[in-house]
Amino acid sequence: MYSDKVMDHFEHPRNVGEIENASGVGTVGNAKCGDIMRIYLDIDDATHMIRDCKFKTFGCGAAVATSSMATEMVKGKTIEEAMQVTNKAVMEALDGLPPVKVHCSLLAEEAIHAALWDYAEKHGIKIQGLEKPKSDISEHDGDEEY
Ligand code: FES
Repeated sequence: MYSDKVMDHFEHPRNVGEIENASGVGTVGNAKCGDIMRIYLDIDDATHMIRDCKFKTFGCGAAVATSSMATEMVKGKTIEEAMQVTNKAVMEALDGLPPVKVHCSLLAEEAIHAALWDYAEKHGIKIQGLEKPKSDISEHDGDEEY
């Protein structure tokens, strides 16, 4: 049912954790299942390059695998390039997901966008093509443990 790549990223997820004093943090909720994803970005202000990216999730295996892959894909990219890392691109990089699990892959993309939104707001900049994700629940950042 799951590709070898999905299983690999699920069993050995990359970039799990937090970044202290992150440049941007985004937390989103999945309307379908109620699961939560938080992404931390460390961004170089001069070059807009994403130096580091970490995630924490209260989500299923598909959410873990897609977030692991998504964080790998945005690391070392500029903000503009990271905007191209869609859930579709992440799923392709993982050799696909079962259709019922596609909604899980949206969590990573939306959390990255929420974190970029947070960064843009803090720095008073506009990121081409970026909108605040509807699933953004970042107001609650920082207090809850999961
Ligand atoms: Fe909730 Fe996959 S079932 S993220």
